[in-house]
Amino acid sequence: MQRKIRVLTVSSANMDFVMNVSKVPSAGETLSDPGGYSFIPGGKGANAAVAFRRLGGDSVFCASLGSDANGAALLDIYKAEGIDTRFIRTDPKNPTGLAAIMVEPGGANRIIVFPGSNASLDAKFVESALVQCKPDALFLQFEIPAGTVLAAASAAAARNIPVFVDAGPATPDFPLEKLPPLEVFSPNETETETYTGIDPKNPDLCLKAVMELSKRVRARYYVLKLGGRGCYICDGKYYYCLPPYDMPVVDTTAAGDCFTAGLTLEYLRSGDMVRAGKYANIVGSLSVSVKGAMPSIPTAAAVGRFAAENGIF
Ligand code: RIB
Repeated sequence: MQRKIRVLTVSSANMDFVMNVSKVPSAGETLSDPGGYSFIPGGKGANAAVAFRRLGGDSVFCASLGSDANGAALLDIYKAEGIDTRFIRTDPKNPTGLAAIMVEPGGANRIIVFPGSNASLDAKFVESALVQCKPDALFLQFEIPAGTVLAAASAAAARNIPVFVDAGPATPDFPLEKLPPLEVFSPNETETETYTGIDPKNPDLCLKAVMELSKRVRARYYVLKLGGRGCYICDGKYYYCLPPYDMPVVDTTAAGDCFTAGLTLEYLRSGDMVRAGKYANIVGSLSVSVKGAMPSIPTAAAVGRFAAENGIF
């Protein structure tokens, strides 16, 4: 049997406080809404780490949780998923990260994150995790301090470990120029506009945005996540517009996180970025049809079934 690909995710962990609303309130407005609320495990990093595992990888998660009930509950969940949690630290001073999420009918969401313990994930700790873990790839997002992201990326690059960056959330002052050469740099539409000033609303503008991005960050592949329009992949020479697969949209939370995790894992398994883009589009499409962050992340079996039923690959 083929050895599982080991991916180290150095990123965030949150508890999501999710409110299902029929309308978001305006400033100064109070609304009463029978839509209900729930606490659901989330956080961009944790969503990706769970996706790596459910999609058939060996997933190692390096993160910082608070010394509180949410932290304990999340750690149990990661263990039950089969994630390697040796590099999750407990911050005695700050609470576990919390995301307040409003989901509207149609699946659009608005998210505010209170970073809490995510802000204390430090460079020294992640460098030591990287050295001990010896992963096949490093996966990063921007929901932890920029210095920690840069230190992890540089430590991996110095050891020839490929680095995949999911460039969310949009962080206008992130020093992209300081990142080492990457395998993949993948922003969504909002993030692309934040880093380039270009709204990638058509293929020409996607190409212009990639050209702007390439002035700031060196990557073998730029993969723009275009939500309901699928994704745009560019390697500097060729580009590919890959459409999404049609699914009822219930909640888009975590679709981008598991898209990029799926892309990373399938690219590492196959060495074929176009195949990886199609695979990631299936992962993202399946995710939007289920409510919540972590509950919506599909398994390898679900992706395989969908691909077979729809004649993909
Ligand atoms: O990308 C979705 C995630 O963003 C949520 O789970 C929330 O925790 C925030 O990190």
